[in-house]
Amino acid sequence: MRRTSQQICHLKLYLEGAVECNRLISIDTFFYTSTELVILRLKMIIMGLNPTDKRTIYWDDGIIMVDQTMLPARYENVKITTIEELCNAILKLKVRGAPALGAAGAFGVALAACKSDARDLDTLKSKVKDAAKSIISTRPTAINLFSGVDRILKAIEPCATIEEVKEVAVEEAKRTADEDIITNKALSAVGASILKDGDVVMTYCNAGRLATVGWGTALGVIRSATISGKRISVYVCETRPLNQGSRITAFELLEDEIPATLIADNMAAWMMKEDKVNCVIVGADRITKEAVYNKVGTYMLAICAKHHGIPFYVAAPLSTCDFQDREIEIEQRDPSELIYCGKKQLAPKSVKVENPAFDATPLELVTKIITENGIKNPIELMRR
Ligand code: MRU
Repeated sequence: MRRTSQQICHLKLYLEGAVECNRLISIDTFFYTSTELVILRLKMIIMGLNPTDKRTIYWDDGIIMVDQTMLPARYENVKITTIEELCNAILKLKVRGAPALGAAGAFGVALAACKSDARDLDTLKSKVKDAAKSIISTRPTAINLFSGVDRILKAIEPCATIEEVKEVAVEEAKRTADEDIITNKALSAVGASILKDGDVVMTYCNAGRLATVGWGTALGVIRSATISGKRISVYVCETRPLNQGSRITAFELLEDEIPATLIADNMAAWMMKEDKVNCVIVGADRITKEAVYNKVGTYMLAICAKHHGIPFYVAAPLSTCDFQDREIEIEQRDPSELIYCGKKQLAPKSVKVENPAFDATPLELVTKIITENGIKNPIELMRR
């Protein structure tokens, strides 16, 4: 059967998500069997095309990560070889974004295991647990950091030798990272169906490939819709104080040649009022039974969207959902992030500052949550 180029795009999009699930998939009106997908994947490998070659974080005898503090001026990888370096990288936001933090946590436990000089199994496991505690103490809000660490701790529990602990930790961490890309591609392909040709999407912070191991969530949806042939353009909110929007989201969209317009955060309501926005799509750090925790300012956008009758979507893997009833800590960051922009002083040094990194948007303000299992009503998803 002949395929149109749009169909081939869809196939490529689904390669990693659907092949693993080994099932018949449907996208819009097109149907493909898993055998077709396997054949295409093999062809891509023969052609030297690796759809995951732009990873934000991966393992190579240590943790390699894109240093996001250098963006957009420089795109550089750094190698992390100690837990202290990793904790510092997380605190400084060299690696950031909930799913990327999940992978950082997983690789961090693997790093602790591999670099340990412990000579007996119990000492090794106890040192790895200590390292895990340091890793999760860095940033409290994104649930993925905790689940990434936990996953590797659980995987090494039954290991009976030092060698086995090291091997299992690295393999499980690599699997965690691989699964992130698979999940993001799946949710992005699902989410692409909500966008129409010509839509203008507003997004906040960075929920792109750099906030994940690869592909992205909110930007993943936009990327997938674009690849499927829809012309989508994006309003990028700069996202003060650390400018993940202007530094990272704008960088990613330009890299993918997706039309992007940068706005200051305080322009968002006006763009909506002027009828320039069809929908808002953001990511999430944690979704609870009450709210979506995401970069501070998300709540404000959700209220503006509601006021203007604009759909407000959250794109997030199900691993971001937290069904437990517990108090969520919102990270408070250093006042210097508001007083300075780089080396430039923007405010009196002695001014009182509040700098919460995240806010909580009530589920009632969220139109739908886009997950790898489908597009969900937020209240039905979280209060089931
Ligand atoms: O402080 P950051 O940059 O880690 O905050 C990131 C966000 O708020 C993202 O929107 C969220 O982690 C989702 S990333 C897919």
